[in-house]
Amino acid sequence: LGTFSISQNAFLPGKPPLRVLPNSYYTPWESLMDQLPDLIKRREIRERISQLPILTTDNLHTEHEWRRAYVILAFFTHAYIWGNDTPAEILPPPITVPLLAVSKHLDLPPVATYAALNLWNWTVTTPHASASPGDLSLDSLSACHTFTGTESESWFYMVSVAMEAQAGSLIPTILAALRAIPVHDHATITSALAALAACIRTTSSLLTRMHEKCDPAVFYHDIRPFLAGSKNMAHAGLPRGIFYDVGEGKGAWRQLRGGSNGQSSLIQFFDVVLGVVHASGGHSSPHAPAPAEGPQGKEVTGSFHVELRDFMPGPHRRFLEHVGRMGSLRNFALQEGGGEDQRRCREAYRDAVAALTDMRDGHLKIVTRYIVVPSRSPHTGRERNLASVSSHSPGAAVGEKEDAELTGTGGTALLPFLKQSRQETAEAAKLGS
Ligand code: HEM
Ligand code: ALA
Repeated sequence: LGTFSISQNAFLPGKPPLRVLPNSYYTPWESLMDQLPDLIKRREIRERISQLPILTTDNLHTEHEWRRAYVILAFFTHAYIWGNDTPAEILPPPITVPLLAVSKHLDLPPVATYAALNLWNWTVTTPHASASPGDLSLDSLSACHTFTGTESESWFYMVSVAMEAQAGSLIPTILAALRAIPVHDHATITSALAALAACIRTTSSLLTRMHEKCDPAVFYHDIRPFLAGSKNMAHAGLPRGIFYDVGEGKGAWRQLRGGSNGQSSLIQFFDVVLGVVHASGGHSSPHAPAPAEGPQGKEVTGSFHVELRDFMPGPHRRFLEHVGRMGSLRNFALQEGGGEDQRRCREAYRDAVAALTDMRDGHLKIVTRYIVVPSRSPHTGRERNLASVSSHSPGAAVGEKEDAELTGTGGTALLPFLKQSRQETAEAAKLGS
């Protein structure tokens, strides 16, 4: 599992991410990171980033250091683009030069992904706590960095981190079940499916705790705009995406999806193991132009879920592909007939699919509360132009038409997309589909 960067905490690192780069060469970055929410609030962040020296990646040594550098530069990228009254279309060399090198090293796109904001951005606040799975409970986690300095933002990231931490022991259990397919070991497979259903239910119940400390209005107006990408964002002022200026007149326009928990390898792991097939191309957002570029500049085809894999750390993406090739628990479990063993296995499978469908149901409720409802209320005036990321076409009537035009930070037409994703989950349990 180590080769796939999977730890005792599943897709999270096995110990808390590095909080400061050890080499003082990187102090200019670290000191801006320390003041990030303040500099954003004072509308000074763009200027301060432009004044940074162009640092090299030569002084990064361990993987932990590379990841820390990625977190910093990903935060800088989105703070620079969205941290003023109008979005910046051109990203300057102090960000682009090191960011492109770090992204290449980590096999990630040069943008704030789920890895930057969630997987590698947490700390344990309880005294004496370690990073062992039992200690990574939602109440003892805190984000190292946020754009807004709010508890709402930290909680929004930490709900996902706590969810990820639940799967540490599940992964080996599932791999054993996949190996049990050829030998028809029903007992192993059935108990693994039960463990999967239990894990999905535990993670779902964490998801429903979002409201405890994440305020919907703060999320919608203050946090969410910073997560937006540069794909399908013409309505927010980025018709061409972002120009990554690497100096000397060189650079390239890129259109990349913004941060979205859809980039979580864990949820896609659930899908792969259960044989859930997502065909949706992300439901072209109403703001989508012709097919845009993927992170490596290739044209994107296939489903949104497959496309999102390009936004996961390379080893995690390869792990999902590997698991997908190991065999189908769905085909095994849904075989008709058989004895009592087979019946139990079929039921365990259907129960796990039901758990995942329920999770997507719960997620849709969150989307209603955190995006659909606040999008209808009048602007408070405190938000910057960024709020247009969440806005509708001018003149659209309030109500269903408007809701249909909402775009997720990941660039999807969010409601039709998420409903289809839930539907595709439920369908896995049906024979012959
Ligand atoms: C996708 C909103 C929290 C898991 C999405 C999308 C939206 C959204 C709008 C559509 C993709 C896009 O951005 O264009 C929200 C909101 C949240 C939230 C408003 C909380 C305030 C979470 C959490 C998780 C999660 C904590 C768990 C890891 C997913 C997944 C997808 C997704 C897996 C991909 C669609 C799918 O597989 O069904 N979310 N999300 N979300 N979100 Fe969330
Ligand atoms: N993807 C989530 C959104 O669109 C964060 O708000």
